[in-house]
Amino acid sequence: MNTDQFLVKSELNFIDKATYTWQTPSNIALVKYWGKSNPQIPKNASISFTLKNCHTTTTIDFEKKEKSESVDFDLFFEGKQKEEFKPKIAEFFKRIQEYCPYIFNYKMTIHSENSFPHSSGIASSASGFSAIAMCLMSLEKELNSVLTQEFINKKTSFLARLGSGSASRSIEGPLVVWGNHSEIEGSSDLFGVKFPYKVHPIFSNYQDTILLVDKGEKQVSSTVGHNLMHNHPYAENRFQQANDNLTKISKILQEGNIKEFINLVESEALTLHAMMLTSNPYFILMKPNTLEIINKIWEYRQEKNSSICFTLDAGANVHVLYPENEKETVNQFVKKELSQYCQKNQYICDTVGLGAKKI
Ligand code: DP6
Repeated sequence: MNTDQFLVKSELNFIDKATYTWQTPSNIALVKYWGKSNPQIPKNASISFTLKNCHTTTTIDFEKKEKSESVDFDLFFEGKQKEEFKPKIAEFFKRIQEYCPYIFNYKMTIHSENSFPHSSGIASSASGFSAIAMCLMSLEKELNSVLTQEFINKKTSFLARLGSGSASRSIEGPLVVWGNHSEIEGSSDLFGVKFPYKVHPIFSNYQDTILLVDKGEKQVSSTVGHNLMHNHPYAENRFQQANDNLTKISKILQEGNIKEFINLVESEALTLHAMMLTSNPYFILMKPNTLEIINKIWEYRQEKNSSICFTLDAGANVHVLYPENEKETVNQFVKKELSQYCQKNQYICDTVGLGAKKI
């Protein structure tokens, strides 16, 4: 794999100070990434909708200093210094130092906040790492002005991936594929690429209402879950199935076959959780209310001849996906029927977005 392309090869023009702010979104996978090898290489290709309203805003102040042996940074989350988040970010800097050697020349002060409620069970690692990666690449562009936007997006996704795999899919939108796949031109295990084919209009402005079923800390982190795919009895079939599903969904997205979309997306969600149920040690991240909601969605779809469907990430929350023309009716349904299964009746109305924004 050609990681050499991401090394800094030219002479850098160092500056004394710089500050950048980026807002980067969360994303929701349609075909799931579950299982990886070192260094953050996915076992199968995945595809996600980039979200719009669920995002992280991060500012990094860079101050030039004597080059040091270790990376020097302070971290503030929602205005407060957060020592407990530092080890994960320190590990990220370690993984990227080869590709961003200039981080040793700066003292970095990172300020970060999420648009979604803290500990809402919405993974913030995708939006969090992509925002840091965007700020780093803004600095790199300042130090080396010849970089093209295309290269910047690619390297940002490459760096974000080393923080959290799904973060590689949070730079662009509305649909991003990560993982090498024979039928997706330009796809790579190293970074995410925009879905390269024309998408049917039914999938534009797709809606995602996120039902906050359980806002607590997950009992099993994604990292542990991914690791349990090593020696998992169904792993090889699962990776093959995911790649086959990517072939199928590529066609579905282009042709606008909503029935097949629903079937594939829900099957992916349940398969992801089936992998957890059949890991050893086994674990369950769905809650009773997750299942109540799924059944209500199935009932509603049948009765109203609706095109809503659900997907799940590695937690109990339910993402309700539907076309824009059902926005009003589905909102009513969520409010009347589904919100009662959410903690404090909370849910977030989101829609598909276009990726990172400079602030
Ligand atoms: C279930 O990207 O959180 O959301 O690479 O260990 O940080 P790490 O894992 P992470 O895994 C996401 C898993 C998922 C499916 C997906 O987003 O594709």
